[in-house]
Amino acid sequence: PAVGVAVAHESAALHVTGHALFTDDLVHRTRDVVHAHPVCSPHPHARVTRLDTAAALEVAGVVRVLTIADVPGVNDAGVKGDEPLFPEEVMFVGHAVCWVLGETLEAARLGAEAVEVDYEPLPAIVALTEAIEAGSFQGGQPVVSRGDVEAGLADAAHVFSGTTEMAGQEHFYLETHAALALVDESGQVFVQSSTQHPSETQEIVAHVLGRHNHDVTVQCLRMGGGFGGKEMQPHGFAAVAALGAVLTGRPVRVRLTRTLDMTMTGKRHGFHAQWRVGFDDDGRLLALEATLTSDGGWSLDLSEPVLARALCHVDNAYWIPHVLVHGRVARTHKTSQTAFRGFGGPQGMLVIEDVLGRCAPLLGVDPLELRRRNFYVAGQATPYGQEVRHPDRLATAWDQVIASGQVDDRLREIAEFNAAHPHTRRALAMTPVKFGISFNFTAFNQAGALVHVYKDGSVLINHGGTEMGQGLHTKMIQVAATALGVPLHRVRLAPTRTDKVPNTSATAASSSADLNGGAVKDACHQIMARLAEVDAGRGLPWEELVREAYFSRVQLWAAGFYRTEGIHWDSTVMQGHPFKYFAYGVAATEVEVDGFTGAYRTRRVDIVHDVGDSLSPLVDIGQIEGGFVQGAGWLTLEDLRWDESDGPGRGRLTTQSASTYKLPSFSELPDELNVALLEHAHEDGAVYGSKAVGEPPLMLALSVREALRQAAAAFGPEGTSVDLASPATPEQVFWAVERARGAD
Ligand code: MTE
Ligand code: MOS
Repeated sequence: PAVGVAVAHESAALHVTGHALFTDDLVHRTRDVVHAHPVCSPHPHARVTRLDTAAALEVAGVVRVLTIADVPGVNDAGVKGDEPLFPEEVMFVGHAVCWVLGETLEAARLGAEAVEVDYEPLPAIVALTEAIEAGSFQGGQPVVSRGDVEAGLADAAHVFSGTTEMAGQEHFYLETHAALALVDESGQVFVQSSTQHPSETQEIVAHVLGRHNHDVTVQCLRMGGGFGGKEMQPHGFAAVAALGAVLTGRPVRVRLTRTLDMTMTGKRHGFHAQWRVGFDDDGRLLALEATLTSDGGWSLDLSEPVLARALCHVDNAYWIPHVLVHGRVARTHKTSQTAFRGFGGPQGMLVIEDVLGRCAPLLGVDPLELRRRNFYVAGQATPYGQEVRHPDRLATAWDQVIASGQVDDRLREIAEFNAAHPHTRRALAMTPVKFGISFNFTAFNQAGALVHVYKDGSVLINHGGTEMGQGLHTKMIQVAATALGVPLHRVRLAPTRTDKVPNTSATAASSSADLNGGAVKDACHQIMARLAEVDAGRGLPWEELVREAYFSRVQLWAAGFYRTEGIHWDSTVMQGHPFKYFAYGVAATEVEVDGFTGAYRTRRVDIVHDVGDSLSPLVDIGQIEGGFVQGAGWLTLEDLRWDESDGPGRGRLTTQSASTYKLPSFSELPDELNVALLEHAHEDGAVYGSKAVGEPPLMLALSVREALRQAAAAFGPEGTSVDLASPATPEQVFWAVERARGAD
């Protein structure tokens, strides 16, 4: 069968030769394109008191200015009704007040500079801690609770408390936001968009235009990365392009420069957490009480579901009998923070890993042992009431990493190295990942597909998922080829569009192969059932069978549908069985820290990750490597700095380009990175026994942060507990080293 075969990504050759088309490449193939440029607010919070576009219209090449007065439908680009497309009150630095259309991008940009806007500045909240102090919150405040946390803490032999803060993260997809809209001869609006959620982009475009969904078609060829940043953020840009196309009758292009993209679009949520934790005498977790506050930015966007996932992952892989975790979303005058690989899971897990990393020395238990001792075992359930199936896989992966990574030998070598080097410290940390797969919101767990078999036996498939580099299309081709029993080269995949498969969910939550794979398989099985009747046991070759079926007037195409069974979730009490299954992984990371500067190197990483029976091993290994490195970037290098001063730059993102925002590059990769897929991991009830892979490996990078903490602590006396800021930049590691040195 074609599933499980190590094939290259279906667009690998196009990617590396530069032939793969992305949304904005289509501009060069489209005539009469008009370019759009925003007029951005310089204030973090202000009322727009005057908007005068006259001077812009005098600029050579300016075609038109789009303002609130032009909106025929609803002036909102979100799904919560709190994101005016053309705002009368600006909510962050970079908020677009209006858009200028020009014959060239340069004309549009000069036109945007000429637009006159008067603002009445209003008080702005920038830092998350300011929002907490001011009581500036938005949305619901969910609580996950089990047992009696006060009783648990009272029974505990050891109780600790602390605060954990972590920064957000810029998506830094290679392809910035882009949309190209045109209106055809019948008045149909066609939008090419770099979107993870074509159906929602379609809905928002339609309601901004005051039209029905069937008047709008959205297509996404592929994305140069989405990472969650194109789940909700593309809608407004698509709507601006569509509105411009309707009003000018010409194709309209929106494409953000890197700096505009970083200035205008939402990022991973930074979080603040306050916690109390109790352990028994053996270092077993008894109780955890915590309040998690996320920095939502100016509008809700996906902040509530992100927070829900954070609350559902504070336990990570650990059994905690008594739990009480409160969640809230702060409102700040910054970009609207949004989905980012892991979707709150990384932030929730960071809290418990931070707790364990800080408490291990205080308990006098080795951190490796402390983590292992607290793993879930069979029969136990998460704080939100879902039984943890297959926790033995976590233990197996843990043991396998210890064995294949020669962890025991290396721990001895590290101790010897540290004893012999006064100014350098090495450390090795291991962390587990348990990540729930499915959208918490049950309704989103559905998908559709369209499979055509042509008379010559060639196959064309469409499904509701989008390709952002993660290899979904590759997997879907493998699923179709397997289900139809044809070779891979017989199957071709057509771009994702809303007029082929309607009402799709976002390509998100790592669930797209599960969901769309189920739908593709369903369509193929319908076709195979009809073909089996035609074949009647004769064993005809595929091409002959297809021909005969056609002449017998048998339908050779089918629409497939899939919905995940057995899941339910009550968001009002935060209880249920929201996930089809858990994805597991374990990583061991060794680092070396320089005591003079805090500079560090990742010497070696060993990962064992559970993808069930892999649909596509090369794709999966790529996802694990990429996810891990992206997670390490979040935790160690990538430093979003907002101007929190009272000066004129207040609220400005000061790291809004590649020159000031440090991403992982070749020089920061681990010297050695070993990835193995967990064996004998067939997952019943999932497509061909496979498991989702897109997000879970990102959280394996928590092992890097924990290794850095341990290395910093090793500059102090035995048993030193150190706090480490996140991101753990070299500067922050240096301060942790200093704290450790001062610890005696
Ligand atoms: N891999 C690449 N190369 N590019 C991406 O943008 N996005 C990640 C992950 N892997 C992403 C990626 C995110 S946030 C998710 S939710 C999943 O892919 C989505 O795709 P899947 O459901 O097919 O795993
Ligand atoms: Mo991924 S954050 O669910 O797009």
